[in-house]
This record gives sequence, structure tokens and C-alpha cells, in this order.
Amino acid sequence: MLKSKVYIEKNFRISNVSDKLFSSFIEHLGRAVYTGIYEPGHDTADEQGFRKDVIDLVKDLNVAMVRYPGGNFLSGYDWTDGIGPKETRPTRLDLAWKTIETNEIGIDEFVDWCKKAGTSPMAAVNMGTGTPKDAGYMIEYCNFKGGTYWSDMRIKNGHNEPHAIKTWCIGNEMDGPWQICRMDAVEYGKKAHETAKIMKWVDDTTELVVCGSSTSLMPSYPEWDRIVLEHTYENVEYISLHRYYENFGNDLDFLASFVDMDNFINAIKSTADYVKALKRSKKNMLLSFDEWNVWYQKKHKNLDWQQCPEILEDRYSLLDALVFGGLAITLLNNSDRVRIACLAQLVNVIAPIFTQKGGAAIRQSIYYPFMYISKYGRGVVLKPVVLTPKVETKYGDAPMLHTSVVHDEKNDELNVFCLNINKENMPLSMDMRSFGCLSMIEHICLDGDNLHAVNSFEKSDTVLPKKLETVKGSIDIIELVIPKHSWNVLRFALKA
Ligand code: AHR
Repeated sequence: MLKSKVYIEKNFRISNVSDKLFSSFIEHLGRAVYTGIYEPGHDTADEQGFRKDVIDLVKDLNVAMVRYPGGNFLSGYDWTDGIGPKETRPTRLDLAWKTIETNEIGIDEFVDWCKKAGTSPMAAVNMGTGTPKDAGYMIEYCNFKGGTYWSDMRIKNGHNEPHAIKTWCIGNEMDGPWQICRMDAVEYGKKAHETAKIMKWVDDTTELVVCGSSTSLMPSYPEWDRIVLEHTYENVEYISLHRYYENFGNDLDFLASFVDMDNFINAIKSTADYVKALKRSKKNMLLSFDEWNVWYQKKHKNLDWQQCPEILEDRYSLLDALVFGGLAITLLNNSDRVRIACLAQLVNVIAPIFTQKGGAAIRQSIYYPFMYISKYGRGVVLKPVVLTPKVETKYGDAPMLHTSVVHDEKNDELNVFCLNINKENMPLSMDMRSFGCLSMIEHICLDGDNLHAVNSFEKSDTVLPKKLETVKGSIDIIELVIPKHSWNVLRFALKA
């Protein structure tokens, strides 16, 4: 029988984990906003029309930031359409998704929603049809204290205090042929650089994210990233990465998606470090993995010119949740450079939370790995020595047990996340002697006989993590079994 061994040494530290690693994304797309977070008339709607049942589910995910308002939508969006009295806001064509946008929700309402949901906005400026000047006006509207045209407009619109939005994306996927007003790397690099200068002049406390390749599958990757960084290096803090995975019929390849994500991160790190050397810079470019998830893109169909149509409403299976959990482990293990990561998206559109118009809100399978890693993945990520068999996949050799270890110094806990991609149970021995004696708090396990099981409105708990019997007493070396095809959280208290 195959076996794994993990040696954990408390001084082998990778990095503290950035809270922003647990961020998400809401785009004006499909039913993410309308009948997702916002549905006036719903039983749980508050005075602003926000669904409180959805807010409660978002709160449990402990989301640091929510990227807004897009996505592809961003590149045709005029942010001024979404401010001021609702009755005067224009209804527009959204060319990105071929839908109708009523602009009932704009930046002011979104900031209000974030406060209610215990999160913060990660805003974005339009680099498609938008100009550097528009971006400057938007940040003035949001972040300037008052006494100028745009900041006074915010005050007039009911927000006396600045929104104080710290993190901003300069456009979205500007290399994609599908993007409204796509650019080449030099054009975008120059425009992003000039936009960043204006934004920082208005508010020098902001941190900016420049667009990297829209996926590692683009023919221009990673040249795009190099050129864009050569133009923008000293004025931005992050470069973005986007990547979605889907099952093309081979479950093992799909389960090994994390190998590809890891390669992608390493390639962008190296590209950024090359530019750092070229510029003789002291600064390390950080990575913002601001779109990641499982997404069945082939199923996407365009419904012409409807208002909030049911598009991109993927229903996630147990298998999808295992893959998703593996990706989350990779993000943790790269937390020294990946300081922002946004689960794309949050509600209805390729999302962990799924709503019925006028009805219930449920947790999809991927909700659980995100919730647990967001809850127990905070602290210092360690670098364990993992001895585990490897298996050949389309992404290269994949470890059968994919692991991340987080030392939560604040709560005196050690939390181990692991994905078993093998179709057999995996005996695991963990040597934690550098921590002295520990006691096991719990073993949370997401697994099941039917990898294709999904949660539905009729049966919302089909895919649900369970607690496995915990090893009792004081321990420093522990032997346990990680079930076949499972995603696990092993939690230990450091004071036995
Ligand atoms: O998240 C869905 C879409 O995927 C976003 O609008 C775009 O940025 C990406 O291609």
C-alpha cells in the first residue's frame, strides 16, 4: 500500500499569510449582483435591498476583499452611470456579456454592502473604453476627503466619509481578444503606467494591480507580463494572474490542476524577478491571483440582451470541491509572493453561494474548502518535508498527497491541509516533534462515494464535510489514514 510521511519543523517558515489571500469577486454579470447580493422585495432584503441570507453566508467565509465591478464588464463600464439618484441612472448595453445593465447598484452601494458583509472593496478602473482621466476622477470620488468636484459629489450622494479603497486593479485581462478595446502589451503598459501615476498622485496610500496575462494559456504569456512590468514596475505593487480549471474527462488530470497553478505562479515570479534585475530595483513584485476557480467554460452560452440572465451558473460537485481545495493549498504554499487571491466569483456566477430568485440561498460544494482554509489557514505557512508517491499527469508529476502546514501563533494551533488525489486510502505519518507535545483538535474531511454529487435547493447538504475520529492524547508523531479522494483539515493544539 502507498504511504506518505510529513516532517514538520517549526522554524522552516515560508511566510506569514496575507489576509487578502482570502478574497473574492463580484462582477456585474448574470445574477451575481441582481438577485444575488441585491434583490429588493426578497424576504430577507434589508432597507437597501441587500439579501441578508446571502450576507450571512458571505460573513461565514471571512472574505478580506471583494473585487468589483469586473471582470470583462469593467472594460465598457462608465462608473459615473452608477452614482447619484437611482431614478436618473441610465440603463445601458453591457457589451462584454451582451446583457442589459440597469445601474441600480454602483460603487456607493457596493461599499455599503461590503461593510454589511464584513469585507472591503477591491475596486477596478476601466482600461478599455476608460481613460487615465476617468480613473483619476473615480479615485478622487472614492478616496478624496472633500472640497473638490468629485469628492463633493460623493458627499452629496450620501457618503460623507471617503470610501478609503486601498486596492485597485488597473483594467481587466487587457490581452484578451474578447476584451472591449483590447490592447497589445506596449499600449497597455504605457496606459497603465500613466494611469498609475495619476491614481497615486490623487492617493499615494493605494496599492495597484496591473494586468498580467489573462491566463497561462494565452499565446502571449509570459511575454505580455514581462513587457507590461517593464513599463509599470515602479508604480504598481502587484501583477494579476487568472486561471480557471475544468474536467476534460480525466479525473486524475483534473485533480492535479494545482500542479499547473504552481507552475504558473513560478513562471510569473521568475518573469517579475527578471524585470526587477533589469530595473536594478529593490522591490519585489507581488502576485495577485485575482481570478481562480473551477469553471466549465464550454457550457457558457450567450443569451442576447437580457437583464441579469442565468449565465455561468456552474453547479459544483464533490470532485470540483477537491480540485478547488488543492488550488487553495497551492495558494497558501506560495503565500510569500501571492499576497492577494480572489475566488472568482462569490454569488451565482461560478460561485460558492447559489441563490434562487425570491427563494433560498445555499452553499455549493466549493464553499467548504474556502471556508475552512479562510478560517484555519491564517498564520505562518511552514515548509514541511513531504514524502509521498508521485503520479504522472498532463501537468507533470503530481504528489499524491498535496499538503500545506500553517502555524497559527495567535491561537497556538498547527493546521495541516491535505488533498489525497489517489483512489486508495493513504496512510500518513506526521512528525511534529519540533513543536513538542500536541493534542489533536479535529480532523475535518470532505469526501464521499459519489464524486459527482452536488448540493441542490432540494437537498442542500449532499456534499458536506464530516468529522473523522480524532487521535486522542498527547502526541508528537501521529499515524492516521487520509481517505481516498479527499480534502482534509487536521487541527492540533500546541499545548497538549
Ligand atoms: O469571472 C468570469 C470572467 O472570467 C471575468 O469576467 C473575466 O475577467 C474572466 O475571463
